[in-house]
Amino acid sequence: MIAGKRILLGVTGGIAAYKAAYLLREFQKSGASVRVIMTPSATRFIGIETFSSLSRHEVAVEVFNQQAPGDSWTKHIQWGDWADIFVIAPCTANTLAKIVHGESDNMLTSTVLAARCPILLCPTMDGEMYESPAVAENLQKARDLGFYVLEPESGYLASGLEAAGRLPKSENILEESSKIIDKHAIQGPLTGKQVLVTAGPTREFFDPVRFISNPSTGKMGIAMADAARLLGGNVALLHGPVTAEIPDRLNTESFVSADELFEKVKSRLDADVVIMAAAVSDFKAAKTNSQKVKKKNASLTLEMSPNPDILEWLGEQKKPGQILIGFAMETEDLIKNAKSKLDQKNLDWICANSLSEGGAGFGSDTNKITLLGKNFEESFTGTKQEVANQILEKIFPE
Ligand code: C5P
Repeated sequence: MIAGKRILLGVTGGIAAYKAAYLLREFQKSGASVRVIMTPSATRFIGIETFSSLSRHEVAVEVFNQQAPGDSWTKHIQWGDWADIFVIAPCTANTLAKIVHGESDNMLTSTVLAARCPILLCPTMDGEMYESPAVAENLQKARDLGFYVLEPESGYLASGLEAAGRLPKSENILEESSKIIDKHAIQGPLTGKQVLVTAGPTREFFDPVRFISNPSTGKMGIAMADAARLLGGNVALLHGPVTAEIPDRLNTESFVSADELFEKVKSRLDADVVIMAAAVSDFKAAKTNSQKVKKKNASLTLEMSPNPDILEWLGEQKKPGQILIGFAMETEDLIKNAKSKLDQKNLDWICANSLSEGGAGFGSDTNKITLLGKNFEESFTGTKQEVANQILEKIFPE
């Protein structure tokens, strides 16, 4: 399955580079997101703007960004981490030779070294070059090093020759990529499951420049999303205006208010697992002022109305087999209150998040959480990521 996957498309400097634009479209039509890295010589065959327009993303070519010094040199690490597969199509004899010798003289070859995802090479060149012993040896070396190689097709080549060397049809590259992604998918208790995670605060605006919110940074929710991904889940992270960094490897969508989050959750009711770690505001302004409220109205009284309780609503709609996991943060009687929320919201599990302990709660890198289920209670401490991993390993054992 290519849908929802991240494809890093490497384009090198052969005449077939123009075909990579069609390949990119085919990946997108199948529901994948694509980012493009070109070698400097590929830009002689097809414009950078063609790929940036089609991928709706910046294209990486140079390791050192001349326009914004200091900006882009870590892309080879970030993009390599982002991708589910790195497809180099077309792959010239020159880039092939560099790859098998571990050279890193441009963004593409550096990313090959940094990437931990599978890499598919589509060697494409003139027939006589393809038949040269050096290319044959390099292709064998590439296979021995663990690269995947899709043989070129035979046919009419740009030089006028009829031989092997053509870029395979997009559908064949897609099929091969899909097989490789499946083979490398993390196998765990959440493999094949859709996991919806919410994180961070909501903002409830009462005039165009002011809102009611809370100090949630989103760290715990992001950690839960990454923990679910490590167990093989197909994770969608809905996040509010978080201050914590979201790893590039997560599929994300943002929200601002509780109402907006509610609409996004409603469109994903088919999730097998829902983890509501967002700190959703219980109240919003009863009326939003379209203009900034003036200071002279100094004794402003803000009338509030309740927000929908999204998790309670999910509990009412719960489909058979769906797992609902909530969070509870209280300033008093944490465990007692969390237990009653577990029943009242029809949840399977609730994570009671301590506010009063040192090294726990909003903004902290560490946490103490008591996981409560039906007749189950266990506490976990550590970094937020460690706690998230422990919680999900307990709920979804191998
Ligand atoms: O009842 P309380 O707000 O303490 O419950 C917290 C849990 O409910 C959290 O998982 C939070 O994400 C969720 N919640 C919600 N909608 C709200 C308020 C909280 O889904 N309006």
